[in-house]
Amino acid sequence: MGTTAGAKPVSMQLRYSVRASLTKSGNRLIQKIGSKLLWLMVLLALVTAALALISPWYLLAELLFVPLALLGLWDLNQKHHSILRNFPILGHFRFALEDIGPELHQYLVEDNTDGKPFDRDTRSLMYRRAKGVADEKPFGTEKNVYDPEYAWMAHSIAPHPVVENAGQNMRITIGGPDCTQPYSSSILNISAMSFGALGSAAVQAMNLGAKKGGFAHDTGEGGISRYHREHGGDLIWQIGTGYFGCRNEQGGFDPDQFAAQATNPQIKMIEIKLSQGAKPGHGGILPAAKVTEEIAEARQVPVGKTVFSPTYHQAFSDPRGLCAFIGQLRELSGGKPVGFKLCVGHPLELVAIAHAIIDTGICPDFIVVDGGEGGTGAAPLEFSDSMGFPLQPALVLVHNLMVGAGLRDKMKIGASGKMVTASAIASSMALGADWCNSARGFMFAVGCIQSQKCQTNTCPVGVTTQNPKLQRALVVPDKATRVHQFHDNTVGALAEMIAAMGLDHTSQLDPSMIFKRFAGGQIENISHHYQLLSANCLIDGTAPELAQLGWDVSTSDNFMPPGLPQSGVPLTPAQ
Ligand SMILES: Cc1cc2nc3c(=O)[nH]c(=O)nc-3n(C[C@H](O)[C@H](O)[C@H](O)COP(=O)(O)O)c2cc1C
Ligand code: SF4
Repeated sequence: MGTTAGAKPVSMQLRYSVRASLTKSGNRLIQKIGSKLLWLMVLLALVTAALALISPWYLLAELLFVPLALLGLWDLNQKHHSILRNFPILGHFRFALEDIGPELHQYLVEDNTDGKPFDRDTRSLMYRRAKGVADEKPFGTEKNVYDPEYAWMAHSIAPHPVVENAGQNMRITIGGPDCTQPYSSSILNISAMSFGALGSAAVQAMNLGAKKGGFAHDTGEGGISRYHREHGGDLIWQIGTGYFGCRNEQGGFDPDQFAAQATNPQIKMIEIKLSQGAKPGHGGILPAAKVTEEIAEARQVPVGKTVFSPTYHQAFSDPRGLCAFIGQLRELSGGKPVGFKLCVGHPLELVAIAHAIIDTGICPDFIVVDGGEGGTGAAPLEFSDSMGFPLQPALVLVHNLMVGAGLRDKMKIGASGKMVTASAIASSMALGADWCNSARGFMFAVGCIQSQKCQTNTCPVGVTTQNPKLQRALVVPDKATRVHQFHDNTVGALAEMIAAMGLDHTSQLDPSMIFKRFAGGQIENISHHYQLLSANCLIDGTAPELAQLGWDVSTSDNFMPPGLPQSGVPLTPAQ
């Protein structure tokens, strides 16, 4: 809820200025030393070589000086790293410091409400919940409750009893009228992360944890690996543009292979991935060297050959095609819930999908909305920083649209994007989500320390690496218990919050229960802030003007209407 983005406390400003002056003096020192260190090493190597003629003990010193002198000479002459050409030997310290920068930042600079993407307070809350130790915090909030963007939830004078064993007892059913195998889902599940992005031990720990706690584990787009199957936890099978696990030789969708896997009872739902918040509309390449025998088996591709995930789906190209694909997957899976995951880009594309649902009569059983703040194993910075709707307005948009189009009661909406605390989950649910998924929350549960090296195969705690030596850090049974406990304790905290609000189930949350301070300082109930639509108003033609215009210009023929009005963004919630 409330942000911490206000003025930095004096202690933090002091630490930043100390760090800045240390960096400045460090840089000045390095510049002064320049290449002198190299020549000093050369000199010492020569002097100790001469002294070795007097006493062989000097040869011991040679063990240090000769390699350093050789390293320095190599640095001086190589053409790849500018810093090493100017600062031989010394430049390596910079690389080493850069490498451990995130850790140093955490240990030396970070405050409790500081640290990105997850601050220290939130990280330690996740660790404590995963370890099953006391998670209370003494002495009151460190957040600035007068922050211009601060938001909070309204408790009740008459709280309700807390639902016991909420992990099991506060569930939802996913599956619309056309689904013959609806899924009784937890309100918190493990978000999509492929085997490949995660190592085998992390996949196993997550799946075993999901099994213990009775919640679902999304495979991610990399197919269903042997590690997803070993412990038998509920799976959501994600189908991305690479169609891994149901792919023909040309890289397109293969219905027979899909049916063979989708009918497996461990698979509870099918999720078509349209996009993810951290890199919406970005495809992927898995280089040949990374296509090991295990990864090839999960993805059903040849070992040692580069694999491409295109930016777009080949199985459909327009909104009606998407609905037909949903219908096909539902039929081939034997009637399991089928939905799609996306990060909202242009709102009108969703409007076109709503038209297609009505025109084809094929409705997704669920939509997962991923916020632009979502995580990834690797993505271009521009995509993570500057593309896609953040979660809150995206959720309002999807929920609002489906209400206005008369479709909301036929589907469930999931939300992902930093859903790691009960308050974050409760506010998403108040804005329209039926359940939440967490990726990085469960990564923290299996030991992630936020060192942000996921793409390098050198994860120090064995979570996002395929290196067996590093994976030794992650002991599957121990971390599976943490995955289970993180789930149960987070859902338990959510049960306490909603009880304090006078509610019995998260489905009773609504936007009128969130208050926020907006620009100008006024405090508003969120339901007044967002322009919420009434049921069927888009169909009846009674929606507010801009929303109705968006609906009227869109059709199920194209994701974007030809001749889109450029004057505004219909259906964008008011800000
Ligand atoms: C290591 C990693 C791998 C991911 N792989 C996928 C993927 O295969 N498919 C997908 O839809 N999202 C993927 N995501 C995105 C997450 O499923 C999720 O939508 C996003 O991280 C937001 O949730 P979070 O804030 O709890 O991490 C991945 C995220 C991470 C951190
Ligand atoms: S998974 Fe590993 S590499 Fe990635 S942020 Fe966590 S600790 Fe760092």
